[in-house]
Amino acid sequence: MKIINIRDALNENLDEMFKNPVVIPTETVYGLAAKIDSENALNKIFEIKGRPKDNPLIIHISSYEMLYNIVDNDIPEEYKALMDKFWPGPLTLIFKSKGIISSSVKGSSSSNTIAVRMPKSKLLRSLIEKIGVPLAAPSANTSGKPSPTCIQHAIDDLNDKVEYYIDDGPCSLGLESTVFGVIDSKPLLLRPGFVTKENIEDILKCEIIVKTKANSFEPNICPGQKYRHYSPSIPVILFKGNKWAQNMEKEYSKYSDKKIGLMCISSPDPKILYFRKFFNGKCIKEYANAIFAGLRELDKECDVIFVQGVSLENEGMAIMDRLEKASSIIFD
Ligand code: TXA
Ligand code: MG
Repeated sequence: MKIINIRDALNENLDEMFKNPVVIPTETVYGLAAKIDSENALNKIFEIKGRPKDNPLIIHISSYEMLYNIVDNDIPEEYKALMDKFWPGPLTLIFKSKGIISSSVKGSSSSNTIAVRMPKSKLLRSLIEKIGVPLAAPSANTSGKPSPTCIQHAIDDLNDKVEYYIDDGPCSLGLESTVFGVIDSKPLLLRPGFVTKENIEDILKCEIIVKTKANSFEPNICPGQKYRHYSPSIPVILFKGNKWAQNMEKEYSKYSDKKIGLMCISSPDPKILYFRKFFNGKCIKEYANAIFAGLRELDKECDVIFVQGVSLENEGMAIMDRLEKASSIIFD
């Protein structure tokens, strides 16, 4: 296993390196990447992560030229405005594919769609440019575990299953990209992220539909929604709403003989004896950045994790999406 700084990686033989999946840094979370024309490496991504085969991958591009090579020319007007504003950055859009793409990166074969984003980091875009082919990359965690926000998280999960780890320090955002698509003429938010519902509505001047959970009544547009996510090996209990501290204090009596890990954003703390506190951040963006690292860290040392919820405004929607998926019990 080799850890290489991204600047040094640019001088390596990238064709050789990308014969197998490689861990890459992005502004959101670390990804496990393969060239979209390398069927063998794409298949290995699913094996290494233990990822269900029907969950398609996000494609990372470095230029509009790359985009036009893989998507149908008929790009929705809404996307043009969103790309102008948020690319490069943490926004993934669902396009109709040109039909020359491996089924591993497509949505359900009948829909023939692909999810594409242009990552923020110039160095990563230079790497993709040098490789000359877009990279498909899901988050570089074992499926079901919290996403990796630094190289060590990816190593903890994937270890010797991957030969090359490209490092660029801790991720600046720490939650996966927003996934948005206009599907059957409906504007759908499929996964909330740092590009918020409010941000998208501001640009499109209309309300968008939040469809971030799978249900059994409708066809599944975003397959990732139906799988369990972000879960440490110990129980996570989420306390939502204004009464979060009181509810935590009440629930505490059941766990007073356990090592409690506490993750919260605001003071005053609830009156509980905790074993470790991961975070008591100042703003919602810092809290978002700490969520995955906190779940991983507390998982190592504690028996149970108590988490404070936040309201759904702005980045709060992305935080609550991840926390609700990670939790085994939720108090409202
Ligand atoms: O920030 C991110 O997006 C990170 C970094 C590495 O770029 N990637 C990431 O990938 O989070 P992943 O695989 O963990 O999540 C991709 C999500 C899944 O829920 C998947 O079902 C959905 O995007 N997706 C992929 N292709 C799709 C498509 N064609 N239509 C609808 N949803 C799609
Ligand atoms: Mg993921």
